[in-house]
Amino acid sequence: MDNLDRITDEILVCAKCPLHRTRINPVPGEGNPNAKIMLIGEAPGANEDRTGRPFCGDAGKVLDELLTVAGLKREEAFIGNILKCRPPNNRDPRIDEIIVCTPYLERQIEIIKPQIICTLGNYATAFILKKFGLKDKILGISRIHGKIFETESSYGKIKIIPMYHPAVAVYNVNMKKVLKKDFEILTGQIGSLR
Ligand code: URA
Repeated sequence: MDNLDRITDEILVCAKCPLHRTRINPVPGEGNPNAKIMLIGEAPGANEDRTGRPFCGDAGKVLDELLTVAGLKREEAFIGNILKCRPPNNRDPRIDEIIVCTPYLERQIEIIKPQIICTLGNYATAFILKKFGLKDKILGISRIHGKIFETESSYGKIKIIPMYHPAVAVYNVNMKKVLKKDFEILTGQIGSLR
């Protein structure tokens, strides 16, 4: 049977796309294997590449602040990314990279079985909405952040809540306010977890 450790082991030696040549460390994702809430970002940045841990740089500090707003501890959630390896110079993920890398994320979702997935930014939002049959709901993140999309997964009902990517708030206080409001929406959902 599939399990998170096996997936991590595969990611650590993955050479399915050219990003393995420029990465220092892959970033498989981390957190509670039984998390009810999963947060999905875009791809590792320089700090994550150095440490192998998701959201441990400036955007990670913003995320920690937002998790506090939501009343959620980092170790209660599972935090992952669309791409497990850093694109050079933090460029956008390419479609070929997304195609070969996202089966890892899909397997992680199947094992963790989160009831809520918060997608951070456009790439994670588009991928997850499409994966869960909501392709027609895909719009730019400025149009759908903070909305709650309810749908079915292979293991039951699931809610998808798109958020802006925390990196937008690193230097922009106004965006932090928007993100905090969205994370308060997440808090409102925690009570409905099974
Ligand atoms: N940005 C992301 O999307 N993911 C990380 O892990 C760090 C920064």
